[in-house]
Amino acid sequence: MKILFVCLGNICRSPTAEGVFQALVNKAGLSEKIKVDSAGTSGCHVGERADSRMRDHAMARGYELTSISRKFDEHRDFEHYDKIVVMDALNYRDVLELGPEYKNKIFMMTDFCKSHNEEKVPDPYYGGPAGFEKVLDIVTDASEGLLEEIKKEL
Ligand code: 4NP
Repeated sequence: MKILFVCLGNICRSPTAEGVFQALVNKAGLSEKIKVDSAGTSGCHVGERADSRMRDHAMARGYELTSISRKFDEHRDFEHYDKIVVMDALNYRDVLELGPEYKNKIFMMTDFCKSHNEEKVPDPYYGGPAGFEKVLDIVTDASEGLLEEIKKEL
């Protein structure tokens, strides 16, 4: 099972989803069965590490974000991944536009939340510390729900 998390820049939300979800997968002993990656639709930050603010907030909760930003590649990613999990409606629209025939592989991260009732993982880039905490809150909740779903499919 291969999962790709997607946001706009691949420096805040999707690297967090990748790091948090990978930690859950490792804890569950499923790292051989579930492969995790992340990408961005914009390509504006390709080659960069995750935003230092995002990394600091994640580290405070015990998650080390190690990913390097890359652009979503419609020529490879739609075929390679089983699920493409996006952070907001803009990401959803952008990814769907690149491959409408893959609609059944594209999911909203927040649809996997169990205790949060949110429509998106809000972009924290231009805001303050609370935005980064909110990303972690929602992503942690959704990651748990996503893993439960995937376990049923393994
Ligand atoms: P992300 O956040 O999509 O969660 O990685 C953003 C990062 C950069 C920008 C916007 C959002 N930007 O405009 O550069």
